[in-house]
Amino acid sequence: MKIAIICPMEEEIGYYREHLDMKSRGIIGDTEMWDAEYEGHELIIVRCGIGKVNSTIAATLVAQEGPDVMINTGSAGAIAQDRQIGDVVIGEATMYHDADSRPFGYELGQVPSMPARYKAPENLVEGFLEAYRNTDLNATVGLILSGDQFIHSVEKVNWLYETFPGAQCAEMEGAAVAQVAYKFGIPCIVIRSISDTASQDAEVLFEEFVVTAGKNAAKVTLDYLKHI
Ligand code: ADE
Repeated sequence: MKIAIICPMEEEIGYYREHLDMKSRGIIGDTEMWDAEYEGHELIIVRCGIGKVNSTIAATLVAQEGPDVMINTGSAGAIAQDRQIGDVVIGEATMYHDADSRPFGYELGQVPSMPARYKAPENLVEGFLEAYRNTDLNATVGLILSGDQFIHSVEKVNWLYETFPGAQCAEMEGAAVAQVAYKFGIPCIVIRSISDTASQDAEVLFEEFVVTAGKNAAKVTLDYLKHI
């Protein structure tokens, strides 16, 4: 299969670099793409940069390659209290937490004319669950929130948890990648691992654990690819 793996930051790509022979295609704008082979799959690894626009650009570029699946991996801040640093979240669905067109009858988080939530296909969710069970990591299946905000306060975490039932973690790219995949009809899933509490000192924790989080999300992803 042809698999596109989109990561925001270099720190979140490390595990792929360690396990794959990645050949750079060069940089378009700020987006770097690498080709690699893994377990009979053709992989395209993409570094998209941080935030919704950067991830949209990268996802649109890689969508032109006709991947069978698009996977977004990386770090996230914890929103559900019981998510610990290093835990993996398998994105059953992703949605924006910073979109608001409610005066026109849309849900909070919904972009007009688009679904409120981008659901991952069941076979992908099941496949990733199966893959994580063979690791020593903790994983949860749940909702991942995306927005152009680095979440760094208890008040915001509580508001997100109460406003978006089932939210497990927050990051800055996943729903944008899923929206592009939705528009191109490409199956897509977001896999994140917790780097910080999204509360006070989130930036300090993030700096310390972004590599671990990127690695855990990547590990589950490569394990998943072994079995399909
Ligand atoms: N990615 C990792 N940690 C994050 C946070 N606290 N907020 C948004 N995106 C993140």
